[in-house]
Amino acid sequence: MSRDALLGVYAPPETLFVKGQGAWLEADDGRRYLDFTAGIAVNALGYDAPEIRRAVEACLATGLIHTSNLFRTEPAEALARELVAVTFPGKVYFCNSGAEAGEACFKFARRWARAEGGPDKVGIVAFRGSFHGRLFGTLAATDRPRYREPFEPLMPGVAWAELDDPGSVEAVVDAERTAAVVIEPVQGEGGIRPVDPGFLRELRAICDDRGVALIFDEIQCGLGRTGDLFAYESSGVTPDLLALAKPLAGGLPMGAVVGAPHLAATVGPGDHATTFGGGPMVATVARAVLKTVADTAFLEGVRERSARLDEGLAGLAEDHDAVAALRGRGLMRGLALHRPAAPVVTAARERGLLVCSAGPDVVRLLPPLNIPLDELDLGVRRLGEALAATGDA
Ligand SMILES: Cc1ncc(COP(=O)(O)O)c(C=O)c1O
Repeated sequence: MSRDALLGVYAPPETLFVKGQGAWLEADDGRRYLDFTAGIAVNALGYDAPEIRRAVEACLATGLIHTSNLFRTEPAEALARELVAVTFPGKVYFCNSGAEAGEACFKFARRWARAEGGPDKVGIVAFRGSFHGRLFGTLAATDRPRYREPFEPLMPGVAWAELDDPGSVEAVVDAERTAAVVIEPVQGEGGIRPVDPGFLRELRAICDDRGVALIFDEIQCGLGRTGDLFAYESSGVTPDLLALAKPLAGGLPMGAVVGAPHLAATVGPGDHATTFGGGPMVATVARAVLKTVADTAFLEGVRERSARLDEGLAGLAEDHDAVAALRGRGLMRGLALHRPAAPVVTAARERGLLVCSAGPDVVRLLPPLNIPLDELDLGVRRLGEALAATGDA
């Protein structure tokens, strides 16, 4: 096997994976790895989940993988209703990735803001540490100079505010010029930083006051990852637009935007589209995923695993001086280190544990939401060994 023909935008390690089962990946040499990346928060139900297998088989039996949005199909309509039922009254748009969901949010927000407030109401306010995707709009709202600079100019009109600092938001949200404020209720790539629920309430008030749409990007933190179905729930705040993707269709590419009725009312045929969005196969699988992760007993299980992980990580922080802080919620965790995360990621892999980083010095843990407790413990032990092998003990 050779990677020669792949465009060099990724730099994976040599290991070649050939099978997955539960929280485990198996390489072509037979070696098994406990996967605490879960496909970067995608494989919420682990590999080879029976719910997903059944949904794929049911869809294949109909012969409909794709029809396009020229025609109606049942799974997308049903999934949209089910998403509205677990979020807030509104309408759903389906796309194929997180970045596409973000771009759609920006377009829908602009459409509404301009209709309400005039042609200049196009700006986006984003937060320091944010990550919303790699397309020209979402990248413009992503606080990663290294990702942005080679591709500038990006979408103009983005202003920046600081997390948990309402004054910094007040200073840049302009009733005449701002269309939307976009925030991850738990920042992912920026270092696993949960936002204070009170701050989300302040954002809601500022947006209401200035006629600005509030967008929650729950692409990474949504759909059960935090132990709540959505991370924003604990704030009691409802956004105008909610972006979802990653785990939604169990590893098949799918994004979704839930838009509140006032936004939905300003969008009509031709305003936005994508060929694959909401196809029968992805929507059938997403219905199975949503049904599973929205179940109260399943979410209780996530919280139980989260408490167990808390204990394990607290032990690591005690034993290893390299750990500067523990961050995150549910099964979305970050170990902020006093040193670079990359060597720990490599040392963990050498010990059969897959983790990734979130920024230069945070080790990110995103195990499947249904991981058995003993495998969670095993992962923590291996992470401890990796910390010990890369520096202090
Ligand atoms: C919070 C958040 N928004 C958007 C994205 C972009 O999603 P995608 O990679 O599917 O385009 C990501 C991906 O990591 C993300 O974590």
